[in-house]
Amino acid sequence: MTDMVVTENLTRQFGTFRAVDRLSLNIREGDVFGFIGPNGAGKTTTLRMLATILKPSYGRATVAGINVAQRPQEVRRIIGYMPDVFGVYEDMLVYEYLNFFSAAYGITGASRAAAVDKVLNLTGLEEKRNASCRSLSRGMTQRLSLARVLLHDPKLLLLDEPASGLDPRARVEFKELVLALKKLGKTIVISSHILSELGELCTAIAIVERSRLVYCGPVEGATQQVRDMGRVFNIQIREGQPGFSAGDAREFVRALPFVDGVRDGERPGQISVRFAPGFNDPHIVNKELVTRGYQVEAFSELAVRLEDAFMQLTKGAVQ
Ligand SMILES: Nc1ncnc2c1ncn2[C@@H]1O[C@H](COP(=O)(O)OP(=O)(O)OP(=O)(O)O)[C@@H](O)[C@H]1O
Ligand SMILES: [Mg+2]
Repeated sequence: MTDMVVTENLTRQFGTFRAVDRLSLNIREGDVFGFIGPNGAGKTTTLRMLATILKPSYGRATVAGINVAQRPQEVRRIIGYMPDVFGVYEDMLVYEYLNFFSAAYGITGASRAAAVDKVLNLTGLEEKRNASCRSLSRGMTQRLSLARVLLHDPKLLLLDEPASGLDPRARVEFKELVLALKKLGKTIVISSHILSELGELCTAIAIVERSRLVYCGPVEGATQQVRDMGRVFNIQIREGQPGFSAGDAREFVRALPFVDGVRDGERPGQISVRFAPGFNDPHIVNKELVTRGYQVEAFSELAVRLEDAFMQLTKGAVQ
């Protein structure tokens, strides 16, 4: 697969503040790429640079090999950028609105009607063709906004927080729409501040925090990276004998050299142990406990959930 987007040390400065700081990314052709980070991380600023609306202060970005700062007109022809707030001309009918933007994209004559029909069909808005834009729900307005950026059949879609404000059903419909667009061969970049929202949809993700990249790669890699920061195990102790309570076990385990932290588990008699980064012999703890006379009833690793991975990776990982 070839690269659709490449950024190298992409930086945007507002005064002395760096909203995007030396971001280096590769987005392959055909990817559904999640661009994830908390509020203020620099997602919108990055997308605006890729969409040629903002100029990079430093570094470079290319779309299909074309430099966004040097040849913005060419880049605009192959991208569809959907901003996080979309202005819809409210007193227009849906098809008038799409006609208007087709004209703006330079689509003329019969191909204009065909382009409008095609995007209405793709976004499931045929029935709303003659509806007033003002009458559309938020989910439909958002689909209309997507229809608009599909008119010129772009290769790359840049969607800024497209799922925010949608109800659960509209979110599912939105995901289906993204998958349909992926099938058409489009590369799709979607920003969000929620990782789990995009987890199953994305072929790759980047996590940004405080203007910097903290992770770029497959979704599973993010959970693996957190796992590498220290595996967590729950240990269930059978209590009863004096001096062998879960509390005693907690203090015993705490003193072991390869243990980073211990706390009480969620259940009675349970303790939760975090091992040092890179430590991969947790069974040693089991052995130590048993040798000491503790009765270990269960010993199980805590799976890293996507949301936990996100919280870990964006929690002061970058200073
Ligand atoms: N035009 C501007 N002038 C000054 N500062 C700006 C400008 N645009 C963005 N910033 C700042 O850059 C930082 C990153 O903003 P950006 O909108 O890119 O974040 P974001 O990740 O999209 O956040 P959100 O999830 O809230 O949409 C913020 O601190 C923001 O205040
Ligand atoms: Mg934003």
